Amino acid sequence: MALSGGSTPKAIFEGLASPEYALRVDWQHVWLFWGDERSVPPQHADSNFGMAMHAGMGRLPIPPQHIFRMHAESHIEANAAAYEALLKAELPDGRFDLVMLGMGNDGHTASLFPGTEALKVFDRWVVANPVPLLGTDRMTLTYSCINAARNIAIYVIGESKAEMLDRVLEDPYSPDLLPSQAVGTEGSKALWILDKAAGRLLLG
Ligand code: 6PG
Repeated sequence: MALSGGSTPKAIFEGLASPEYALRVDWQHVWLFWGDERSVPPQHADSNFGMAMHAGMGRLPIPPQHIFRMHAESHIEANAAAYEALLKAELPDGRFDLVMLGMGNDGHTASLFPGTEALKVFDRWVVANPVPLLGTDRMTLTYSCINAARNIAIYVIGESKAEMLDRVLEDPYSPDLLPSQAVGTEGSKALWILDKAAGRLLLG
């Protein structure tokens, strides 16, 4: 599975590692990858890897050799190519069983931000994506990689997401502006997991 960053995924990792859920998964059969990463080292407060491991994934009995961090802190283009090669070597038939995503208030998912280059890359699975709005580069899976997954789950929780969620799901298709719209395909639909607050405007 590929993990995301953000406060919503963080809450999910805390839940997965809680006594109520930790024993429900045979962690020996779980391989952890990331859907995106900031250009910081793992110990940095902004690291998606660091967040996931501290939130609970690091306390689960997942064999260390099954955990694959994105090395986005340096040589991000070369490391994106290396991560793509890793996925091609590690993923049976090149597909994730599960890609877990969040959605930002601007409609981005993974590090596929509005108006960025990665939105238009379909011949790669992992790229370095300059995000001018944040003044930084991110490493991210592309739509080609995400949409090949057997299961795609997008978690959208909280009132702050209600407006954007309504736009993503109801507005005309415009992924350059609303990148989350392009997640999922006819053959591999995205599962949107919402709370009532986030879905408030969808209820008609
Ligand atoms: C990142 C995440 C990003 C996140 C969404 C939702 O690196 O920022 O991968 O795509 O999942 O922005 O984050 P929140 O749940 O914090 O709103």
